[in-house]
Amino acid sequence: MMKRALFTAAAMLLMIFTSVLWAQRPNVYILATGGTIAGSGASSVGTNYTAGQVEIASLLDAVPQIKEVANVVGRQLVRIGSQDMDDATWLLLARRINELTSSDSVDAIVVTHGTDTMEETAFFLSLTVGTKKPVVLVGAMRPSTALSADGPLNLYNAVVVAASPQSVGRGVLVAMNGGVYSAATVTKMHTTNVEAFGAPDAGAVGYVLNGEVHYILPLEHPDDSLHFSVAGLEALPRVAVAYGHAGVSPDIIEAVIGSGYKGIVYAGVGNGNIHKDILPVLEEARRRGIIVVRSSRVPSGPTSLDNEVDDARYGFVASQLLPPQKARVLLMLALTRTDDWQQIQRYFNEYR
Ligand code: SIN
Repeated sequence: MMKRALFTAAAMLLMIFTSVLWAQRPNVYILATGGTIAGSGASSVGTNYTAGQVEIASLLDAVPQIKEVANVVGRQLVRIGSQDMDDATWLLLARRINELTSSDSVDAIVVTHGTDTMEETAFFLSLTVGTKKPVVLVGAMRPSTALSADGPLNLYNAVVVAASPQSVGRGVLVAMNGGVYSAATVTKMHTTNVEAFGAPDAGAVGYVLNGEVHYILPLEHPDDSLHFSVAGLEALPRVAVAYGHAGVSPDIIEAVIGSGYKGIVYAGVGNGNIHKDILPVLEEARRRGIIVVRSSRVPSGPTSLDNEVDDARYGFVASQLLPPQKARVLLMLALTRTDDWQQIQRYFNEYR
């Protein structure tokens, strides 16, 4: 009798202890979009696989340690390879995150994502999600079926970053291979290595080690003017990226003019330099009201204003430290607000 009473009391204490722990852990909501982290292949040693095959519930089951860090809920938003990411999915994702983070029952968001366009999605979210709560993107370079798959530890680390009070107010982050990066500066630097991400101009903002996040860089205070509302937006203005190279032909830009594009990002050479045959076509684009942003195909350093190219004379915008793929994101969002190139230049100047 006595034994049974003791046993019941111990069980109750355990239940109370567990529920106190549960209540103390942050609530992290995981939105899954696919990518290699959810990839599946026939061989555990080959590079031939299909992205976005595995459901988030199975990915979470593979990392039970996550439950010790946070209370997690995982939901599948879409299941795509991130090479197929599009504006409609970005708008859906931004709205969903805004909705979730406005609830007191959600402390942070993790987005599982393919690595190919992760930096663009992260940057888009950094401009459209209005919360101080952590939003962390994570992916993997090896599919879930690979020998030494990197997804499980990356996912665990992303939850660690999201669950940390130190991550509050740091904007949208990317957690890959132990590094923590800011959305504005992160880029994919290697096509296949697990150490695929870096931030050539700024470096990582922090790292995760032994289940703890450590920040190297102090907290930034992003300018509130660079928040673009996506409420009620059905689509984004079309912006094309054209790539500069030796012997580039003007017909690639001519095809863009008159095709409904509101903006062109020219990924120029060097400091965003433009071939002599391209310049008149870009001037024509400006005459037709298309915003032209000069960026660079060079992986680091700014495309600086009014240096080798006289931007003021042509009405061109210089992308500063944003590479072409992120310049496109900012230009699309800027165009939802204004078509004044000088105002758009001021938005880009935030990234110097
Ligand atoms: C993708 O971006 O969805 C495929 C590649 C990857 O996730 O690493």
